[in-house]
Amino acid sequence: MTVTVSRPEGAQQALPLDVEAIRADFPILSRTVRDGKRLVYLDSGATSQKPRQVLDAERWFYENINAAPHRGAHQLAEEATGAYEAARATIGAFIGAPEREIVFTRNSTEAINLVAYALSNAVTAKESELRTYAVGQGDEIVVTEMEHHANLLPWQQLCERTGATLRWLGLTDDGRLDLADLTTVVNERTKLVAVTQQSNILGTINPLGEIIARAHEVGALVLVDGAQSVPHSPIDVAELGADFLVFSGHKMLGPTGVGVLWGRYDVLDKLPPFLTGGSMIEVVRMEGSTFAAPPQRFEAGVPMTAQVIGLAAAVEYLQALGMDKVEAHEHALTGYALDKLAEIPGVTVIGPPDTVARGGAISFTVDGIHPHDVGQVLDDLGIAVRVGHHCAWPVVRRYGVPATTRATFYVHSGYDDIDALADGIRAAQKFFGPV
Ligand code: ALA
Repeated sequence: MTVTVSRPEGAQQALPLDVEAIRADFPILSRTVRDGKRLVYLDSGATSQKPRQVLDAERWFYENINAAPHRGAHQLAEEATGAYEAARATIGAFIGAPEREIVFTRNSTEAINLVAYALSNAVTAKESELRTYAVGQGDEIVVTEMEHHANLLPWQQLCERTGATLRWLGLTDDGRLDLADLTTVVNERTKLVAVTQQSNILGTINPLGEIIARAHEVGALVLVDGAQSVPHSPIDVAELGADFLVFSGHKMLGPTGVGVLWGRYDVLDKLPPFLTGGSMIEVVRMEGSTFAAPPQRFEAGVPMTAQVIGLAAAVEYLQALGMDKVEAHEHALTGYALDKLAEIPGVTVIGPPDTVARGGAISFTVDGIHPHDVGQVLDDLGIAVRVGHHCAWPVVRRYGVPATTRATFYVHSGYDDIDALADGIRAAQKFFGPV
């Protein structure tokens, strides 16, 4: 089932963010593509561009204090440790969390795998406390049909390793979670519910309060995938009420190769490690070893230090803009884009047709033109969008389309980008013939 857009044309309202000033901070936005065309970057949902402040922070680290944190007693090691831990405090404060609840991972995918592997490693943990959340036969893990692969495959694999059963909440025709079965799908056998806060393909913002309340009622843990929400709206983990939140640095103006697992300390403290090695230990003997307390327990090996420092710079950049304003900015752009797409005959939005509980990921199809062809025409015009199943294959299958074209916005996006997108879709229609 697809959802046809039918909205009145909306007037342009002043955008909350100063797009021109922000664009000047992003060196890549001054380059041209495809024979001198302005780069219209509408693929921040896949990865965001980086402002100079983030690039400078990484360079500053390498030029001034490059060393392995938490190892070595020389001055550089001491300064690198200080900068790494200061970054942890900055990033924690961004989501209202104390430092000891922030674990650095490579990205959201690794953070989710960390939790999934910890739950199966718990089965054979030596210390009884680390077996608290062990998953086995008869247990159930609940996901939704809306998840991108990063929040689906780790749970499928966990179930295969442990004999647990995977269950899921379905989708409604208008791109929302179908919670009609919530109390049967999430039940006394449920060990963990993993759910996205904002769909990377539909843009839907989910009613997490209801899901978390039900999960906690039956004693299940809740992992919230914030890969598409933390970069775009103010999030406070105390208000959220979940047990875990994951997000990726590269989608929020930060470097690639760094992500975050936030976990409630009392839960993290009862989980065995995922990766083992240096710096996550308490005592090591040839006969066996014991582990450090969180977050160090989950950070084996020399960490991605420059990237963590770059991510702290990204967080400071977003805080200076104001996350309320970032959210309002994208909300205005989303409304404008939905209006613009509604004006084009043959364009169908896959996902909520209005801006209610909806973020700025807009997936659409164009009658008679394959999404890859739409993407190619847009690319020829300098417009970068994502095409395909967006690592959320069950979602496109659910809505009966082979793929979609997806535009995603961020702080440097403006009405001119959306006008370019709409003109580009019309150009594709002209190129491929009348619809
Ligand atoms: N999950 C990322 C996206 O939506 C990669 O594009």
